[in-house]
Amino acid sequence: MDTQVGIVGAGPAGLLLAHLLRLQGIESVVLEARSREYVEARVRAGVLEQGTVDLLVEAGVGDRLRREGLVHHGLELRFDGQGHRIDLSDLTGGRAITVYGQQEVVKDLIAARLDAGGELLFEVEDVTLHDLEGEEPAVRFRRDGADHELRCAFVAGCDGFHGVCREAIPAGTLSVFEREYPFAWLGILAEVAPSSEELIYCYHERGFALHSMRSPRLTRLYLQCAPDEEIDAWPDARIWEELRTRLATGGGWTLGEGPIVEKGITPMRSFVVEPLRHGRLFLAGDSAHIVPPTGAKGLNLAVADVRVLSDALGRWFAGGDPSGLDAYSDTCLRRVWRVQHFSWWMTSMLHRFPGDDPFDGRLQRSQLRYVSSSRAAATTLAENYVGLELV
Ligand code: FAD
Ligand code: DHB
Repeated sequence: MDTQVGIVGAGPAGLLLAHLLRLQGIESVVLEARSREYVEARVRAGVLEQGTVDLLVEAGVGDRLRREGLVHHGLELRFDGQGHRIDLSDLTGGRAITVYGQQEVVKDLIAARLDAGGELLFEVEDVTLHDLEGEEPAVRFRRDGADHELRCAFVAGCDGFHGVCREAIPAGTLSVFEREYPFAWLGILAEVAPSSEELIYCYHERGFALHSMRSPRLTRLYLQCAPDEEIDAWPDARIWEELRTRLATGGGWTLGEGPIVEKGITPMRSFVVEPLRHGRLFLAGDSAHIVPPTGAKGLNLAVADVRVLSDALGRWFAGGDPSGLDAYSDTCLRRVWRVQHFSWWMTSMLHRFPGDDPFDGRLQRSQLRYVSSSRAAATTLAENYVGLELV
């Protein structure tokens, strides 16, 4: 088997890269460990930056996104029982975010790939990478009990944080930058109309809470919890009670409740490796970097990486120009570190840290009041949240 680009992972990064390459006439094969049903059902991110939406629409995979995505021009910061609206569009010259589930993006990209007759292999096993430092790297894998080898000009490691591509880089070659947070998020999806038209990021003595949504009938909610929390310790009644307590306002706002159809706990970490390239292997998305979800950035960062990578590969295949590939890591890392800072800042401002004393709490409240009342401070949040065009 031969192709121009071997892509490991059919998450947003791998699928979008395959699509953007195809638009330039470049062939690829996408290898995915899980089944199609599994990746299409995996509930994760929900917030798309303006630039992510524009790219998906320009690339011809944004029709359903434009029909069903919920465009938001603002968000709410809630603390001390009061809401404060951040007018994202007013502060950013009219830009906005769109709420559209990551698994819907994945479904749209899989449909586009299969409609175009592109190679997308699910349920592959034992993926290993070879000859990354040569001119013809190989990806070996098993499928349906048989061994296969894919020879290609380049390999794209789009296999997420727990994938094999980053691990294939020789020890000592990469610098690793990492921070673990002493808490996690418990996320639920509930069959009930959202209780607010916009997202609510809530700071509370008992911990952070987030009200988001997926559609006019589906609400997505998150609670800060202990990092080693067992999901069994959170029966539905306890989740609703905690959400009601943290999100309560002085002004009669009520949280709608309904059947919980999905529940999960997500650890929180910041993680970056440098550089994002080893020989002919390029890392993109969560395989190279993780951000805590408070800034809603992981998916958007994966999209930003593959936009740069597809342009660079396009220039190389069009006429052997290596400059884009040589600049790939540095170009992406500038955005990665901006987003790392923003995600760390939002996380630090909105969560209770074990061991925090009243001084820490006063600083957090002061920061929240400042962001809610100063146009300059609110603009900092807004322009990062909708996505910076230049970093
Ligand atoms: P992934 O989506 O992880 O895809 C990697 C793929 O590779 C997977 O399909 C995996 O099965 C496959 N794979 C793994 N190992 C192998 C292997 N050995 N061989 C073959 N295939 C393999 N981001 C946002 O932008 N906004 C948000 O609002 C947001 N909220 C989030 C909320 C939660 C609860 C979580 C968990 C994440 C959130 N994120 C958010 C982050 C976002 O989901 C990720 O950053 C995004 O999925 C990264 O895409 P990716 O394609 O790089 O990796
Ligand atoms: C969602 C997830 C996030 O991490 C976030 O910051 C905002 C919204 C969501 O899943 O809807």
